[in-house]
Amino acid sequence: MGEGVLKRYARYLPLTPDTPALSIGEGETPLVRSRHLAGELGIDELYFKLEGCNPTASFKDRGMVVAVAKAMERGYGTIMCASTGNTSASAAAYGAAAGLETVVLVPQGNVAEGKLSQAVAYGARVINLRGNFDDALRVARELAEARSVCLVNSVNPDRIEGQKTAAFEIVDVLGDAPDLLFIPVGNAGNITAYWKGFREYHDGGNAARLPRMMGFQAEGAAPIVAGKPVEHPQTIASAIRIGNPANWEGALTARDESEGDIGTVSDAEILDAYKLMARREGIFCEAASAAGVAGLIKHVRAGNGLAGRTVVCVITGHGLKDPGLARELADHPPEEAPADVEAVARLLGEAVPGTSGGGHRS
Ligand code: F0G
Repeated sequence: MGEGVLKRYARYLPLTPDTPALSIGEGETPLVRSRHLAGELGIDELYFKLEGCNPTASFKDRGMVVAVAKAMERGYGTIMCASTGNTSASAAAYGAAAGLETVVLVPQGNVAEGKLSQAVAYGARVINLRGNFDDALRVARELAEARSVCLVNSVNPDRIEGQKTAAFEIVDVLGDAPDLLFIPVGNAGNITAYWKGFREYHDGGNAARLPRMMGFQAEGAAPIVAGKPVEHPQTIASAIRIGNPANWEGALTARDESEGDIGTVSDAEILDAYKLMARREGIFCEAASAAGVAGLIKHVRAGNGLAGRTVVCVITGHGLKDPGLARELADHPPEEAPADVEAVARLLGEAVPGTSGGGHRS
């Protein structure tokens, strides 16, 4: 346990004897069985892959550990990325652990508070770009090309290599690939990586089947579904507010080879799934992560029954990344009371048996 992705899956990764053994404990995330949604949707086996349990609370750590270890091996002193927040948090953490400088370019005003705090805490240089993610990626790519800086976005193939290990873990736990995998799609690195992982395990005889890859974009940021870039992508799920995904081709390959689909979900559907995950499953995830769950709900409600199927939803990041969103959506905002038993009992009323009416019991 806790040995990290490089060590655990060394034989599937582009490592050499000179690759440093970097890890801050990424991987081996829980695959948790649904307690509520499975029954509601009539699915026999529904699991959530909790990628928010990685060291920086998103799936990005799996790819970042490989990209940063390779950057060290190649002698880079600085790593750089564009990000909607999670990639920057992860790059900053692994950059710190590796003793490298980290520069992150983020769309000003559109990154969740927790993610920015992480990048700053890990000591990265954070540049708020007056533009969106697609602008930031364009600038980062050009800068990295012109200087001896290692770009650690998912256009860097080492990122994809590391991220595919999540697919390995799912197969290692279930004994085979699921029938369907539901996953949010932004820059499309993750769906590309999962498909690569499932393919490699299948080709190597570790899995008998291949899943159908079911990717979901937010309605206002759905270039792959539209078949053309979206100039001004919009969605409440800021992590996937991307109009021109770098791994577009990889997503199409995953969709087509797996006989899957890439669809859209509205912000309202995303928020419903976000609330349901926390309130019924006890899983506090990011809005972007809820896009995959929203996609599953939409798919089943459209008449595609999944009885007898094994289904996995990838929960890409932790809800604590964006505490403000949770507070905004609260059904029960925090209440206030004096430090007095009677007063709190009165406030609780019927909510706590034995406290209704505020009677004194000794
Ligand atoms: N979920 C979360 C929580 C994300 O942060 C991202 C992407 C995705 C899903 C989509 O994954 O891009 O591989 O299709 N976040 C990137 C970032 C863009 O900069 O943190 P993808």
